[in-house]
Amino acid sequence: MGVVQGPAQQTRPSLLLRDIQVHRGRQTVLKGLSLTIATGAITVIVGPSGVGKSTLMGVLNGLIRPVAGEVSVAGLGPLSDPGVLREHRRRTATVFQEHALIDRLTALDNVLLGMADRRHPLSPLPWPADLQRRAAQALLEVGLLHRVNARADTLSGGERQRVGIARALVRNPSLLLGDEPFSAVDPALTRRLGDEFKSLVSGAGITVVLVLHQIDIARRLADRIVGLADGRVAFDGPPETFDTAAQSRVFPRHELQHDSPASQSTS
Ligand SMILES: Nc1ncnc2c1ncn2[C@@H]1O[C@H](COP(=O)(O)OP(=O)(O)O)[C@@H](O)[C@H]1O
Ligand SMILES: [Mg+2]
Repeated sequence: MGVVQGPAQQTRPSLLLRDIQVHRGRQTVLKGLSLTIATGAITVIVGPSGVGKSTLMGVLNGLIRPVAGEVSVAGLGPLSDPGVLREHRRRTATVFQEHALIDRLTALDNVLLGMADRRHPLSPLPWPADLQRRAAQALLEVGLLHRVNARADTLSGGERQRVGIARALVRNPSLLLGDEPFSAVDPALTRRLGDEFKSLVSGAGITVVLVLHQIDIARRLADRIVGLADGRVAFDGPPETFDTAAQSRVFPRHELQHDSPASQSTS
């Protein structure tokens, strides 16, 4: 899906965050954070729990407004402009954790919901044939065409996550966001889903930002790792430079843990 773009696209900025400050409750969570998200690359956000990773994802999709600083979308303008925000949200898709599927609906209907904003919410008509074809195509791309009519509650954890990925990809997004999208599956399956995910999005020109809590998966998927500490960017670089010294700048000692070797796969 999407338009195949060459490596020259990799260094173009997609989103620019300049000196942003975000309050959550009474605290300042993001304290003058600046960051550029590169077009067509997978950026992985890591950091200790509570540091503001989900808050940053909310800023990227425009749901959370900074109290200071600016977020701008390349080619569109600042997100504080309502027209820019609307267009940005139309171009953005999110991969949720597995529980975001509707159990009583089929895999296909769950994928169609990814395009719910493209038809009238109260339409009594069946989904138009072209959208149904697109949804089936998305299920084919994640290897689930044989489960197209299966109810979501009969799918395995890995299959549910693939439906979630198809539901995001069917929007043909230019920006794909995922806040710990694999946290509902075990480490071995996470690795497999992660690899599948990476091959689906790379070369498709989609800009991807993921929050991941397992460092080995983060390093495996990322073109670039961004580590947050104390409301700012404490590391920003390619995964091979995110060594133990860099990791200890981002994580307090007790949170630095590496995943145990794969135990089992339940796909
Ligand atoms: N809706 C909210 N109201 C008040 N505080 C919040 C809210 N959402 C998050 N926070 C606080 O903001 C901080 C950052 O949260 P979050 O972005 O979820 O961190 P992370 O995703 O890195 O674990 C935490 O201290 C959290 O308790
Ligand atoms: Mg979070």
